[in-house]
Amino acid sequence: MAEEVGYPFNQLPLEAFTSFQGGVEGWGSICGALIAPIQLIGMVAEGEDKSAMVNELLSFYTQHPFPEYQTGEFDLPRVAVGSTLCHVSVTRWMNETGMGPRSRPERKERCAGLTADVCKFTVQMLNKYLEGTFKPGEYTSPAVAGECMVCHGEMEPFAHGKENCLDCHDDHR
Ligand code: HEC
Ligand code: HEC
Repeated sequence: MAEEVGYPFNQLPLEAFTSFQGGVEGWGSICGALIAPIQLIGMVAEGEDKSAMVNELLSFYTQHPFPEYQTGEFDLPRVAVGSTLCHVSVTRWMNETGMGPRSRPERKERCAGLTADVCKFTVQMLNKYLEGTFKPGEYTSPAVAGECMVCHGEMEPFAHGKENCLDCHDDHR
């Protein structure tokens, strides 16, 4: 993109993206593979289109069994992780596959393959958007979040978010 299109893609200091590994320097916060694609979407689209594509990407992330792309060294098992949090994503994959600890080469390759999957999805979505054929809603955030937020968006105790609430809370309904 930097070579073919030029500005603004030739103005990105790659060093600005290296802190996102490990859910931002090992904090296990948002999966770092999502951050650059979110920024890229924001460099191509704006307003409601931008929001719709970012929502689609995060929803895809929670549902897609990663890694689809295999880097070639291993034939890694694929697991859908149900969360955009690095902590949850990596831990569920290690638990379900038995491939821990985090320092294990298979885990590293899994996150590399996942990053490729996220990039591919983003590029395909942006191409559809530019062709005018992108339709949001193929992937959606967990329905339970909306069901809980009907109350907790408006009444105490207040909360917010679109992740699966039941990852961390009991269902008191
Ligand atoms: C019909 C409205 C309503 C819905 C729907 C609802 N809540 Fe609540 N929730 C409340 C109210 C009112 C309280 C405070 C009184 C209480 O503790 O029951 C509460 C309390 C809580 C609390 C703090 C107290 C506790 O039980 O730990 C959490 C956490 C919570 N809700 C999470 C959720 C989640 C997760 C969902 C969806 C699965 C959900 N709520 C759906 C009304 C609702
Ligand atoms: C990754 C874990 C996680 C997820 C996912 C999550 N929460 Fe929470 N939530 C927390 C934590 C941690 C707190 C702070 C608890 C505290 O301070 O005691 C909290 C606090 C709350 C509270 C206030 C509870 C109180 O006692 O005042 C409500 C209500 C709540 N969350 C609802 C939700 C709803 C609804 C969702 C889904 C849209 C959700 N949460 C998703 C971890 C999570």
